[in-house]
Amino acid sequence: MILQAENVTKYYGEFRALHDVTLGVSAGEFVSIIGPNGAGKSTLLNLLTGLARPSSGTVRFKDRDITGIGPVKLAKLGMARSFQLVQIFPDLTVRETLQAAVAARLRRGRRIFASLRGDRDIRDGAEEVAALFGLDAKRRALARELPQGDKKLLDVASAFALRPEIILLDEPTSGVSTADKTRIMEILVRAAKTIGLQAIIQVEHDMDIVFGFSDRIVALHQGAVLADATPREVQADQRLVDMVVGRRRGASA
Ligand SMILES: Nc1ncnc2c1ncn2[C@@H]1O[C@H](COP(=O)(O)OP(=O)(O)OP(=O)(O)O)[C@@H](O)[C@H]1O
Ligand SMILES: [Mg+2]
Repeated sequence: MILQAENVTKYYGEFRALHDVTLGVSAGEFVSIIGPNGAGKSTLLNLLTGLARPSSGTVRFKDRDITGIGPVKLAKLGMARSFQLVQIFPDLTVRETLQAAVAARLRRGRRIFASLRGDRDIRDGAEEVAALFGLDAKRRALARELPQGDKKLLDVASAFALRPEIILLDEPTSGVSTADKTRIMEILVRAAKTIGLQAIIQVEHDMDIVFGFSDRIVALHQGAVLADATPREVQADQRLVDMVVGRRRGASA
């Protein structure tokens, strides 16, 4: 088991957002976390990535307790994530964005990083990721000028540029058209294979995407795990699907 949450509970003040959630992810798995708005999906991702501390319970990554460890240390250990709202720098170009991410990776464990060789490694690394995500033709475009689908891709590409072993994505295709969703997922899966990523964990609302790409589905409802099953098993349970799909947000969700 590469990532494991054991009996995690999370309170925001009096409100219990997650209740006794246990979840394990093995190498080679693509896991989708689903559930209606407010089910606790983003909260769970924040706990799994050490961004927030559970009120009780533990989170282990590669057999190491990462409870509340924070994103910088976690990236060093080999875990990267993207957020529900894209976290791109609007005034940077695609190339600059990816170079910044590659630079962050190469700086790991080094105090000074100013050599020409280093600059070349950063350039090459950024080119490589741009090509992997089909963004090479848009290298010079400003992040803010990209269509929504490419903004999401750039966001995910930046996480990949850290060369993680596992990646957690909070709604990597939200706000884009159905055609773009599929394109993004296909690019993502191909990139994952290319860099030898060990596991993908995503939060996703679109059930076609969830059923089409996941090995396993974890369904949350009011902060608890309602089901942890294969797409086939979930698909066969209409009552469960109705419950976890819940009320959809606007057309984009
Ligand atoms: N920082 C916070 N303080 C207080 N309550 C919070 C906080 N973050 C989340 N919540 C509440 O916890 C519950 C779970 O929120 P969370 O964002 O994890 O849900 P979600 O499943 O990701 O929903 P969505 O599909 O809308 O993204 C919600 O009721 C939310 O209002
Ligand atoms: Mg969320």
